[in-house]
Amino acid sequence: MPEKKLITHFAIFEAVFNFYTEFTIEKKPNNRPALPAGRSEVLDKIVSLAKRRGFVFQSSEIYGGLNGCWDYGPLGVELLRNIKEEWWKSMTYRDDVEGLDASILMHPKVWEASGHVENFTDPMVDCKQCKARYRIDVLSEMINEKKKTKALEELRNEIINDPVLVEKFSNAFKTEDPFSSVLEDKELSPKLLQEINCPQCGNKNSFTSARQFNLMFKTFIGPVEDTGSVVFLRPETAQGIFVNFLNVQSSSRQKLPFGIAQLGKAFRNEINTKNFLFRTREFEQMEMQYFVKPSDDKKFYDYWKDLRLQWFKDLGMTENKLRYHDHPQNKLAHYAKEATDIEYEFPFGWGEIEGIHNRTDFDLSRHEQYSGKSLKYFDEESKEKFVPYIIETSAGASRSFMAFLIDAYYEEEVKGEIRSVLRFHPKLAPIKAAILPLVNKDGMPEISQKIETDLRKRFKVFYDDKGAVGRRYRRQDEAGTPYCITVDTETLNDQTVTVRDRDSMEQIRISNDKLKEYLVNKILVS
Ligand code: GAP
Repeated sequence: MPEKKLITHFAIFEAVFNFYTEFTIEKKPNNRPALPAGRSEVLDKIVSLAKRRGFVFQSSEIYGGLNGCWDYGPLGVELLRNIKEEWWKSMTYRDDVEGLDASILMHPKVWEASGHVENFTDPMVDCKQCKARYRIDVLSEMINEKKKTKALEELRNEIINDPVLVEKFSNAFKTEDPFSSVLEDKELSPKLLQEINCPQCGNKNSFTSARQFNLMFKTFIGPVEDTGSVVFLRPETAQGIFVNFLNVQSSSRQKLPFGIAQLGKAFRNEINTKNFLFRTREFEQMEMQYFVKPSDDKKFYDYWKDLRLQWFKDLGMTENKLRYHDHPQNKLAHYAKEATDIEYEFPFGWGEIEGIHNRTDFDLSRHEQYSGKSLKYFDEESKEKFVPYIIETSAGASRSFMAFLIDAYYEEEVKGEIRSVLRFHPKLAPIKAAILPLVNKDGMPEISQKIETDLRKRFKVFYDDKGAVGRRYRRQDEAGTPYCITVDTETLNDQTVTVRDRDSMEQIRISNDKLKEYLVNKILVS
């Protein structure tokens, strides 16, 4: 993390600006100063700020919390809504993409057709002694290299007289991660598990064999809780789009290529929830499925890949913290011909925030097969009937929220104190402007309240008359409010107010009657 530099010429600044102007710091080439050092420390600070300022609370906190579930507080819900709103506008305010809001509960056959009943599973093991539960890949990550080598050596000695197992064992050493490969092999896995100590209680030979655990949440529809009434909470929003493909196409009279966009809740019974909002059990997705002629798949895959990365950049996400991770052919999901993840560099490392897939005709063909209904498209030009290919863009709203929050977080030294600031893009900022009367007398509150009423018609604004103005600025910095409007003695004489910019901390004076137009241009047009 780059070092931040403090300009120490406080005196020069003091002379130039009025009494409540703050000091500024030298800008990095990308115009942004540095984050504080220490990666886990940064995440801890953000989680604590998120709670303190009302972005995110633990679900059911007064009962000790519910693992993998989070609540969005007053500022958080605004930020999340703004992210979803920007996504919705960018995806559906065009003539080739329609919106949809399908139900969360769907016919159980949907999940058979999609492959979720069969494939949406994680192998996991339990410790018989301390009852800890581990996903196999996570268990592998928890064991150090020395212990792994020792366990593999012991396993090799044990299977030395079984040529079939020996061959499997040596094949595992041709992969990048032999330990995980052995652990994932049906026959070798139970034997290797006997050689490993439980990371929690330290006991050896205490693991059950690996079992497949389906990540879908089950519930029952209707009053009878039997197998015939089982339904699932959707683990992705995409399937609601696939099953409505012809409904949307015929009602909106769209022709290929065209897309259907949907955002909403998805649920996964993740074995290991981790890293704040990164992997949760309830989250929101923003998905778009673009239906194309099979021969156009590459063209539109590339098109959406570019566009989606650009969306994050346009909303201010730091460019060098974004990258593609293209999936190698041997790691593609069962439905995909080509796939990439848009990744963000979180304090704990690179993590996917959005996936782009060429899903071929897999989904529509499977739904044809399971429903017995044709989902073919008739192309009037070529007079051909075929199942379209699908290019999917699938972003997590909650994960993007976390990335935008982390990316916006900065600490700077100002007047010998640390200023925490959230440098959100104005379009994402929960509160767009704060109105601050310098003192609670001399007509300043009345003018301020008039400004507040007027601006509130366009923006989410906040009125604050409590405490020293410097403190009020700091509170708004932490909330990510891009503009603070201060009504002071000069306002009484010439009807001007100061507008203080959150990032530069610079202030300009502007005539009261030009204020709204100024803010509209700054916040909504960019
Ligand atoms: N329809 C394709 C699909 O659902 P995915 O990669 O499983 O693909 C897409 O999920 C996006 O949803 C991810 O890039 C991530 O942003 C978000 N996501 C997935 N699982 C999540 C979880 N447990 N918690 C939070 N976000 C999640």
